Amino acid sequence: MSRTTTRGLRIKKRKGEKIIMMTAYDCLFARIVDQADIDIILVGDSLGNVVQGRDTTLPVTLDEMIYHTAIVSRSTQNAMVVADMPFMSFQISPEDALRNAGRVMKESGAEAVKLEGGIPMAETIARLTTAGIPVMGHVGLTPQSVHQLGGYRVQGKKQKAAERLIADACAVQDAGAFGVVLECVPADLSARVTGKLKIPTIGIGAGIHCDGQVLVLYDLLGLTGPESPKFVKRYAELGSAAAEALGLFVEEVRSEKYPGDEHSY
Ligand code: KIV
Repeated sequence: MSRTTTRGLRIKKRKGEKIIMMTAYDCLFARIVDQADIDIILVGDSLGNVVQGRDTTLPVTLDEMIYHTAIVSRSTQNAMVVADMPFMSFQISPEDALRNAGRVMKESGAEAVKLEGGIPMAETIARLTTAGIPVMGHVGLTPQSVHQLGGYRVQGKKQKAAERLIADACAVQDAGAFGVVLECVPADLSARVTGKLKIPTIGIGAGIHCDGQVLVLYDLLGLTGPESPKFVKRYAELGSAAAEALGLFVEEVRSEKYPGDEHSY
């Protein structure tokens, strides 16, 4: 089986087939995700939160993104691997962004990069795509701008903000992006954006009408929390299952039940 391509994603949108994107950051989970008929694996800078235990994604470095993306790329065969461009790796200038995205593509094996921002990032997206680097956009709630946005809040609620968000998504498409993430956007607004764009929209907290959906893997598996954002559906509770298993191990070692004869040489 060959990997998902940008062309394959366009065809899915045309046919009305949902696109599935999931984050992964390491070899074990990347393999599980890749075997689950997932179209795109996003090595998100959300690794700052869920792997590094930070409050925001801002401290994540380009070298860290390349390190995790290379692991995910070499552990998978089916999904397209998209690497997030971390904070300040693409905002300084289009040339700087091209140099950094070029490093990601050469050193990590990713098939594409994702970067946050709408109209102000259009020139940068155009610079990367004309150099042959596929770009996924990301508008709505852009976590790298959390301090400017005043927190992790739903975007585009008022009419002016909604019009701005539509203009952002159109600018990302016109600059050459092959898809766009809509994060924390009212469902009726993401329906409007999805209807307007030829490229697929991938929603997170953006309702049912997007061309695809993405979640942070550890949220979906119930490894984070206990509080999850409203848009997260926890499909398993692996955090509590792991805590229970560890509790049992501790108890069995203390009571000399483990290791038994069957675990001994
Ligand atoms: O970093 C990330 O995981 C993301 C997704 C939440 C879309 O950008």
